[in-house]
Amino acid sequence: MFSSQGHAAVCYDCIRVLAQVVAEESGESPEPPPQLRQMPPRDIYASLDAYVVAQERAKKILSVAVYNHFKRIRTGDSSSVEIQKANILLVGPTGCGKTLLAETLARTLDVPLAVCDATSLTESGYVGEDVENILLRLIQAAEWDIPRAERGIIYIDEMDKIARKEGVNRSITRDVSGEGVQQELLKIIEGCVANVPPQGGRKHPHQEFLQIDTRNILFICGGAFDGLDRMVEDRANAGSARLGFLAGSRSASAVPGGAATNVTPDDLLEFGFIPEMVGRLPITVVLEPLDRNALVRVLTEPKNAIVKQYQHLFQMDGVELEFTQDALEAAADRALEHSTGARCLRYVIEDTLMDVMYDLPSLTGATRCVVNRNSIEGLEPPTLYSAGGDEVSLPTEPIRKSA
Ligand SMILES: Nc1ncnc2c1ncn2[C@@H]1O[C@H](COP(=O)(O)OP(=O)(O)O)[C@@H](O)[C@H]1O
Ligand SMILES: [Mg+2]
Repeated sequence: MFSSQGHAAVCYDCIRVLAQVVAEESGESPEPPPQLRQMPPRDIYASLDAYVVAQERAKKILSVAVYNHFKRIRTGDSSSVEIQKANILLVGPTGCGKTLLAETLARTLDVPLAVCDATSLTESGYVGEDVENILLRLIQAAEWDIPRAERGIIYIDEMDKIARKEGVNRSITRDVSGEGVQQELLKIIEGCVANVPPQGGRKHPHQEFLQIDTRNILFICGGAFDGLDRMVEDRANAGSARLGFLAGSRSASAVPGGAATNVTPDDLLEFGFIPEMVGRLPITVVLEPLDRNALVRVLTEPKNAIVKQYQHLFQMDGVELEFTQDALEAAADRALEHSTGARCLRYVIEDTLMDVMYDLPSLTGATRCVVNRNSIEGLEPPTLYSAGGDEVSLPTEPIRKSA
């Protein structure tokens, strides 16, 4: 809905129709449909690689999957062989880059992205978000351009939380039946023409619903899937127990960190997904937890790495910001203590630099700021130097006293 300072409101459908009428009457041809970017897998990989550290295997699988997905869309109905849509399941712990991968993919391919959380969804009729709301969010991300939304990406987080629960784990609250939500999600993942109530169910003068075809929307589902690694290992063990001579092959399914690398449809079934859902998520990618070295790389390597961002901020005040190698390692160690992957790296850096950022703009003479391990650990403030190399002290007592 478009309205300006209390004047009459015009709906987006009408704006589009009018724009077309105006274009036709003035002899302009309507805008051609935007071409999908035809990027080969290697280019997609390179683009992901510029933002996402580690996860090499995941980046490779995603690059190929997405390349095939868009090839499938381009072929359309003209092909005699109908290529099935290959949605993707990302399995990995918190803060290892699942959402980041989806975001970077969407940016790379220049398609709209909606990120949502499976736990906020409910079966229709119950309190909570309806599945159609996900589609509405994608339409909003596409700026109400439905054809563009129809080729977008939907990332559904916390997918593991809607697994069917057995026995003691069964949720007490009746309306959070994982299976019901899976059924609802399945409709849009399989591909359907959905009726989406435009914004908060507000009534529409001409047409109550926006129609969107979900057939070509790529769904990426993600989750931590706690316990799945054990299931995979059990399966591998069971296999090797049955076939004694394969006992040594168990390690093929488990990497040293304990993460399962070859999750099969059977594992997903056992985890609590309905068979139809498993069938719609044929590509499972296992992401590894980020180790200390990877966390240091997250700080410094991506195009928009946290350290680069703060260096830029400091530069705007005429100050060169430096981190010693052991400072970066200490920051990684602080992040590891939180067990939230790369998530709290930004907080650690922000926390370390807070006092300096408070004082620096009113300080004259400082041109260099060095952060070492002690600064990261809160034992001493970062050291400031003048152009001549003399230490410049901060005027105020640090507010932060945490050790
Ligand atoms: N592999 C990675 N490479 C670079 N940055 C990462 C990586 N994983 C996580 N991050 C950083 O941590 C933040 C949270 O990651 P996110 O992708 O949301 O994690 P999750 O796997 O829980 O979805 C990101 O915004 C990004 O800054
Ligand atoms: Mg996430």
